[in-house]
This record gives sequence, structure tokens and C-alpha cells, in this order.
Amino acid sequence: MKRTGSAATIARGADVLRAGGLVAFPTETVYGLGADARDPQAVAKIFAAKGRPADHPLIVHLPSAALLPRWAAHVPDAAQRLADAFWPGPLTIVLRRAAGVPDAVTGGLETVGLRVPRHPVALALLEAFGDGVAAPSANRYGRVSPTLAAHVREELDDRVDLVLDGGRCDVGIESTIVDLSGDAPVLLRPGAVTVAMLEGALGMPVRAAGEGATPAPGRKPSHYAPRARVLIAGEAEAVSLARCFMAGGARVGLLSTQAPAEPGIDWLGLPADSATQARQLYQRLRDADALGLDVLVAVPPSGAGLAAALADRLQRAAGLGDGEPDASDLPP
Ligand code: TXA
Ligand code: MG
Repeated sequence: MKRTGSAATIARGADVLRAGGLVAFPTETVYGLGADARDPQAVAKIFAAKGRPADHPLIVHLPSAALLPRWAAHVPDAAQRLADAFWPGPLTIVLRRAAGVPDAVTGGLETVGLRVPRHPVALALLEAFGDGVAAPSANRYGRVSPTLAAHVREELDDRVDLVLDGGRCDVGIESTIVDLSGDAPVLLRPGAVTVAMLEGALGMPVRAAGEGATPAPGRKPSHYAPRARVLIAGEAEAVSLARCFMAGGARVGLLSTQAPAEPGIDWLGLPADSATQARQLYQRLRDADALGLDVLVAVPPSGAGLAAALADRLQRAAGLGDGEPDASDLPP
């Protein structure tokens, strides 16, 4: 696939951003749909292109941690420590916003999510632009995040001024989000920077956003979904669940590391290690739609760290908060 990270294309990207346009660009996690984060009209175009509710906050991407004081009212020691340890990289830090950060970006919140990505094309674009670029994942609202430029073109081609192609995203799932705007660090979204890594760098525990905590807006379970209905199952019952739906006439696929012994089930295989699983997961969800599956039975990886982040994404693809299929998921 053609890569478009040449100096001339990067300069054009920065010009499009300065002119208030939209540039889709690769990051190491997923492709982002970027606009000048200081320009509310440009930011409004992101919401229009995605079909996303305008009160959802966006992550502001920075060329370096040196720009943190422009965007955050206060940079706590903990934020500096995480920036030193993980930036550029797949970590978003939520801080109290500086005066002048547009409501269009924060969804009216008093906080702002900030991240320095490590993909060379993203960094080159941010450096050429010189300030914050607001960017959600470059997919239509509620759909699977893009990990190839072709995915962006499929969904948003006519709605974006420029798509930069940086090949397949190396991490493959969205950044970890940690909220440092309160008294104690809270994990809002799991990702490749794991809780253990955060706690190691901070020297203090990181609480998961759970009961009583406000979930990150836009983290509704219905997100990250393919068109096929996704059902979560354990390895042991996955095939019988699949057979149940096949008996009802559905075209059924199985997303798992173990190939099914049964004929008639489309197997979407996942490799054994979590890093490669993450790199391939969203492509597999797109494959499910390309195959025209009605139902995808998914066996989430078990374990902590990146495996837990993958299980989180699969549960969301299934429209579940807790990963348990209920009786209403069974065919009549
Ligand atoms: O890896 C990523 O984070 C990708 C790439 C493009 O950087 N971006 C991404 O953006 O996944 P998006 O908009 O699809 O997801 C951003 C998440 C949303 O769930 C949003 O609610 C949360 O970040 N978020 C942003 N600002 C926030 C804030 N101030 N407080 C709490 N959550 C915030
Ligand atoms: Mg998204």
C-alpha cells in the first residue's frame, strides 16, 4: 500500500489543518480524523463527518509534551511522569483544561484529553502544524476504528480533505486513557499501556472507572461494533452457541484462537499473542462484515494487561458492559 508520509504531503496536511479542513492520519493505535483543535468550526466538521453527537469530548494530539502547559491548566507531577515514560505512545492523559480550550473539543467538560502519538507520520504532521490537533478515531460514529487508510476511505472518503497513509497501525486498538484531573488516577479506557505499567511509572495504584465513577463520555457499550451481531462466549461453549444460531438459519462466524472442529462455521482466527491479536482484531471485525455474517461468536482472550483491553473492546462490540450474554441473545 502506498504510504503518503513524504515531506510535501505532510506540509499539505498542515496547510489543510490551518485552513480549517479535515486530515485523516495514521497513529500507532488507529487512524485519527484531525482538525485544528483551536478552531471550533473546524472541530464541528469532525462531528459532522463522523455523525457523532457534539457533546463527546475529543483527544487533542500534541507534537510533544512541551506543549502540555498550553492545553492543561496545571501539569501535575504524575502527568509529567507518565509523559516521560510513555510519550510518544498509546496513552491519553486527561487533565484540567487550560483557559481558552474550546468547548467544541472538550464537549463542555472542564478537562481535556491529551496525547503525543508515536507514529512517524502523525508526529511529522503535528510538528509541521505546530499545535494541538483534535482527532477521534476516523470511523463513522459507533463503528469499528480504522487500522488501515483503506478503512478510512471506505467510510469517510468524501468527507475528508486529505487521507495520509501510514500503513497498518502497529498497536491496533485505541490508546489507554487515564484521568489525572482528580485526587487519584483513574483508568477510563484500557489499552496497550497497561495498569501495571501506569502504576509502575506513578508509584501509586490506578483505580478502574467503575461503580460510582462517570464513564468516559462516548464509551457506551454500543461502540466499536461491526454490522454482524457479536456474542461473547467461553472457548467451551462457543461452538454450541454458534450451532444454535446456525440452526435458526443464520450465517455464523467464530472469532477465536482455536479453529472449530465443526464444518459450516466461518473461522476468523486470532494469533496466540496479545500484541498480534490487538493488531488484527479490528480487521477481523471488518472481515466478519465482508463475509456477510449475521452473527459473530467471539471468544475473548483471558488475562490482564493488553488481553483485558482486547476483552473490553469485544464486550463493547457485543453491546455489553459486563461481557455476559443474556437470555435475550438466544434465538427463539
Ligand atoms: O488511540 C486513540 O486514542 C485514537 C487515536 C486517533 O489517537 N483516538 C480515539 O479517539 O480513540 P475517540 O474519540 O474515538 O475516543 C476518545 C475517547 C472517548 O471515549 C472520549 O470520551 C474520551 O476519549 N475522552 C476524550 N476527552 C476526554 C475527557 N476530557 N474526559 C474523559 N474522557 C475523554
Ligand atoms: Mg472512536
